[in-house]
Amino acid sequence: MTTTDPGEWRPRPAGSPVPEPWPQRHLVLRTPRLELRPDDDASLLELVALAHTGIHPAEKMPFQQAWTDAEPAYLGRGMLQHFWSERAAVGPDRWSLHFVVRHDGAVAGVQSLTASRFGVLRDVATGSYLGRPFQSRGLGTEMRAAVLAFAFDHLGATSARSEYLEGSVASCRISERLGYRRDGTARVAPRGEPVVQQRVVLDPSGFIRPSWTLQVEGYSSDLAGLLTATPPA
Ligand SMILES: CC(C)(COP(=O)(O)OP(=O)(O)OC[C@H]1O[C@@H](n2cnc3c(N)ncnc32)[C@H](O)[C@@H]1OP(=O)(O)O)[C@@H](O)C(=O)NCCC(=O)NCCS
Repeated sequence: MTTTDPGEWRPRPAGSPVPEPWPQRHLVLRTPRLELRPDDDASLLELVALAHTGIHPAEKMPFQQAWTDAEPAYLGRGMLQHFWSERAAVGPDRWSLHFVVRHDGAVAGVQSLTASRFGVLRDVATGSYLGRPFQSRGLGTEMRAAVLAFAFDHLGATSARSEYLEGSVASCRISERLGYRRDGTARVAPRGEPVVQQRVVLDPSGFIRPSWTLQVEGYSSDLAGLLTATPPA
């Protein structure tokens, strides 16, 4: 956050534009089948409704945090509070773009792109899920490829990280298919039992690109500044 000495404050000259407070609200990524926009409250309510229809079989837990195990009465509030806390923390030092993903106009899932100290490290991380009716149709690969193309080609990222729990076959295949290499393991315990987490990393030269070109709308200099992005020349 930029601080301003109160002594420096001057009234805005009449007629001058109001500085954009939330530039990511104009961003849209488009792929052949999907539209990705950073979350807002209306789209989060649709995402909550989707989560109530189920994200994964109850006997499996693909997430590091077992948030889908929440009581149905609290699942939605927990989701909203998670995304709100992420929004409240956005700044040049740490930011998150949680893209709500639409297919034929309907919310299909979420594709997150996050970074800490991006201006120095040029490193992003991704995470995602789709509602069950939208899974196994190639959409997970398409939305990951979208945010990778955005990060490498528009933000100037030089590495992208992801991770998945042992047994998450689709996540593993997406990583292989897009060119990630393995980058060590960790142990996590979302349901109180240890599970191996595989870490993977990708750099721009290793990115196995899709056949389509990402369409980007609303990527302004205000947004590039907030994200401390340096688009490649
Ligand atoms: C993980 C997820 C985002 C993947 O998206 P998706 O659209 O289902 O995956 P895709 O259709 O793009 O398929 C990617 C690969 O996984 C394979 N795959 C997809 N679903 C699969 C399944 N249920 N079992 C085995 N393989 C599967 C596909 O065949 C494809 O492999 P290929 O490239 O060799 O053909 C989605 O399945 C999902 O949200 N799952 C539940 C939540 C989750 O696991 N989130 C990830 C936490 S790390």
